[in-house]
Amino acid sequence: MSKSDPLNRRAFLRNVPISAFAGAALAAEAGNAEAGGSGKYDFDTPYSRIGTDSIKWDRQIRIYGKEHIAVGMGIADMDFRAAPCITKALTERIQHENWGYLDTPRSFIDAIVNWNKRRYGITVNPDLLLLNTGVHPGIIAALRTFSPPGSKVLMMTPIYDGFYGDISFCGCTPEEIPMKVVNGRYSMDFEALEHRINHDTNTLILCNPHNPTGNCWSREDMTTLGEICTRRRVVVLADEIHCDFVTNGNKYTPYCTLDNKEIVRNSITFKAASKSFSLAAMKCAWLFSENPDYIARVRANNRQDFSTLGMIANRAALTEGQEWLDELLPYIDANHAFVDSFIRERMPLVKTVKPQGTYLSWLDVSRLEEKIGAKEMAVEANKKAVAPGKPVTPEMIVERWLVENAKVQVNPGSAYGLGGAGHMRMNIATSRKTLELALTNMASAMAKL
Ligand SMILES: Cc1ncc(COP(=O)(O)O)c(C=O)c1O
Repeated sequence: MSKSDPLNRRAFLRNVPISAFAGAALAAEAGNAEAGGSGKYDFDTPYSRIGTDSIKWDRQIRIYGKEHIAVGMGIADMDFRAAPCITKALTERIQHENWGYLDTPRSFIDAIVNWNKRRYGITVNPDLLLLNTGVHPGIIAALRTFSPPGSKVLMMTPIYDGFYGDISFCGCTPEEIPMKVVNGRYSMDFEALEHRINHDTNTLILCNPHNPTGNCWSREDMTTLGEICTRRRVVVLADEIHCDFVTNGNKYTPYCTLDNKEIVRNSITFKAASKSFSLAAMKCAWLFSENPDYIARVRANNRQDFSTLGMIANRAALTEGQEWLDELLPYIDANHAFVDSFIRERMPLVKTVKPQGTYLSWLDVSRLEEKIGAKEMAVEANKKAVAPGKPVTPEMIVERWLVENAKVQVNPGSAYGLGGAGHMRMNIATSRKTLELALTNMASAMAKL
């Protein structure tokens, strides 16, 4: 098979069983994974995405070589086959072979409004709802509205790395407020927040549930934050894209359902179906507020452009996908529990706390860093750097070490801002078999140290 024959290569890769990428012993162990999801939908059979130009798998294979990637566990999308209602709606639509400009059908607006009402008890006023191609474009529109170039954007860190790009895109700088950590649990530092608000801090990005630490912020925490921001005239941009993923015993509280209406009116909420149904590349999202003035101003910076297939997929998910999602969520919760016990039993160099939300695990790898000399290696790498660029961090060394020794790609915690050092972010939204393969590979590599 030649490199100049990409289609054949893709077909070949797609048909290779996942176990072929790892040692036979590990594959056999992975086969022992407890079977989960005995319901209507199959989340348990690994669904290979290799050969589809995915970032999570194909980009890692392109960077590191296929012999070094058994499992991609980086970027936040899921490995499962899409909900059947989505595939059905898309299949029906592609029978009509015309792809001209798309109107915004009322049925799509209704789907968003009804989903938010049914699922989270949120009343979205359709007149105060804006659509766009993603949470990023939405956040950028809001930053352009409220945060002039040169100003600062407040964030509780470590936080989703994508926000840093949005902030610099708007000519602003991040104002990072590291969270407090007690026994691996993160909490907001309100004193520091008060202290850091200044004449040039006009917005705060809240992530609820919080990527990467998994916090589902409580009503009390968000009220305290909201009171400070309202009093100090900082607009709260609440990104709630991960809101469907909440682990057992925890709760997602929408920021816009806080009791104090003044706090709510000082906010904009950003949502999408893209995490819940893994529709990231379908490019659809929405934002809303109870403040007509905020929406009128953001509207001027928001481009409401989405694709036909994106709209069709999202509308199908929101109108017919609930059953699929409700069956997926316990599977993800069980994945979290599995990661938690596996790490406790078999990875003494790693610590983690089961997150309250998201499908992301936040791993404390500081002992692993020490063991492999990651800090020293990063210093050496930076000395050798020929051109100025992003400095190599110990977490990037761990990323490479895991790829080379465990064939698993996870994201370096340093990408998530202040407080991310000594950590890695691992995406667990995959079949239990694939998850077990990744963890087993990682544990075996660490056991050799
Ligand atoms: C917290 C958070 N916000 C936004 C995004 C990206 O949103 P979109 O793809 O809709 O731009 C992600 C993706 O991982 C995320 O984790």
